[in-house]
Amino acid sequence: MERTFLMIKPDGVQRNLIGPIVARLENKGFKIVGAKLMQVSEDLAKTHYGEHADKPFFGELVDFITSGPVFAMVLEGENIIKTARLVVGSTNPQEALPGTIRGDFGLTVGKNIIHGSDSLESADREINLFFDQSELVDYSLINKDWIY
Ligand code: PPS
Repeated sequence: MERTFLMIKPDGVQRNLIGPIVARLENKGFKIVGAKLMQVSEDLAKTHYGEHADKPFFGELVDFITSGPVFAMVLEGENIIKTARLVVGSTNPQEALPGTIRGDFGLTVGKNIIHGSDSLESADREINLFFDQSELVDYSLINKDWIY
């Protein structure tokens, strides 16, 4: 099953949006296989956003992502990399459609609430950058009579 990396950024954490965002992801049918609240170091931020190192906003991006805790997640589901990006919405929250996470919760281009991997390669890279294999839980959803 395909996996992706999603990270609620410091603005989403500070605004108490972890719960509402995780609810949307669970309601969509995605399965959480790893999650943690963590502080991103400057080194990790620069590695994660390395492909944007020559962009004018790189310094701002690194400062922002290290400015407070993030909520990092690994989610699993059919075609999840593409589907999760639809749920997340366009990079610029002012262009993101209502109904998407960025469209409903964000307003500023730099502070767009959540990050989502954009390809199979970046998902693999980002999952391994943020999570140790021992932090990912491989489990099946059970069908028990106490679930109703
Ligand atoms: S690009 O130029 O198209 O490759 O960049 P893009 O994919 O749109 O954005 C890459 C990440 O940079 C963030 N971003 C910004 N941060 C601060 N200021 C400005 N102006 C800005 N523009 C883009 C954007 O939110 C992306 O972060 P992630 O975490 O990948 O969503």
